[in-house]
Amino acid sequence: EKGGWSSFMAKEVSEEPEAVANTIRGRFSDGAVTIPELDGLDELFLGIDRVIVVACGTAAYAGMVGKYALEQWTRVPVDVELAHEFRYRDPVIGPNTLVVSISQSGETMDTLMAVKYAREQGAKTLSICNTQGATIPRESDAIVYTHAGPEVAVASTKAFVAQITALYLLALHVGRVRGVLSAEDSAEAVSELEAIPAKIARVIETEQEHIEQFAGWMADTASVLFLGRHVGYPIALEGALKLKEISYIHAEGFAAGELKHGPIALIEPGQAVFVIVPSPRGAAELQKKVVSNIQEIRARGARVIAVAEEGDVSVLPFADEVLRIPLAAPLFEPLLAVVPLHIFAMGLATAKGLDVDQPRNLAKSVTVE
Ligand code: M6R
Repeated sequence: EKGGWSSFMAKEVSEEPEAVANTIRGRFSDGAVTIPELDGLDELFLGIDRVIVVACGTAAYAGMVGKYALEQWTRVPVDVELAHEFRYRDPVIGPNTLVVSISQSGETMDTLMAVKYAREQGAKTLSICNTQGATIPRESDAIVYTHAGPEVAVASTKAFVAQITALYLLALHVGRVRGVLSAEDSAEAVSELEAIPAKIARVIETEQEHIEQFAGWMADTASVLFLGRHVGYPIALEGALKLKEISYIHAEGFAAGELKHGPIALIEPGQAVFVIVPSPRGAAELQKKVVSNIQEIRARGARVIAVAEEGDVSVLPFADEVLRIPLAAPLFEPLLAVVPLHIFAMGLATAKGLDVDQPRNLAKSVTVE
């Protein structure tokens, strides 16, 4: 039930802190990750030489974020593929391939077919899913449930942060099993993750009103671009998807480094551009590059909305709006940076008088190919 909320989406965005907290609950002890569902699977994780993540839409963007953590902590190469593309291109799969599917509903036909196909080809399969007993987890060798609670709005929000959380837990677990991640580094990551729910709550508390206000001013905007780099890149894609999905505004996400390879031609006076700025402490080199991207687009008249760490003043001279996120280690920033983008999409669609829970032409779970 919606309770006192104006929409399920508003309720579900407000539940993003719990979605993360509930997904990590019971999976840590003494700074170490213990995922009861994965007990007895050490041999599987020791034997793999490759991971392929298959998913669609928002779940695929969670997978793209997860790739950074999986590769960093496990040193196993990871590819992320849209499930419908994977299934139809004769991919190279072997007995040492682990295919990780991500699905909120657990019923997405494209993802299900990819999992079945991977199994037929002899791969091991692991499902990250939010719905207990759904079809995709039943077709998989292993399951890690996200505990975001039921998600009703068509636009996925709290499930997204829960999916990233589950992927990080998986990466920490596999990294430890394979002996490539130290107990110390794992404990540090665990404490970063434990701090995330309160930080998301702070973003909602401090920025929601501000974002809804300027989203209202932007109700007539024809197009919005999103730029991000490293883990901020999939967040740019997610920000764009959410906006097109519920506000019907043209939106595109780009890797910031790609700007000069084409997209900068789109920049004209007044073009709204969200930029996810990496941390100046944790990712100083990338932060500088992104700030210089901001300068380039600003010089061409773009209206810049920067999502930046608290205390990062370097963006101030070039940004029309600055949305603040609390400090976190770089890998954990996506869990914070996405929150203002979810609020923005919702604020803009609401300002246009649209039904944010039931956007046109879309279904919550796509059970046809
Ligand atoms: O249930 P799933 O996670 O498998 O759904 C995958 C996509 O259809 C879904 O994330 C879709 O992109 C959302 N509507 C995005 O908000």
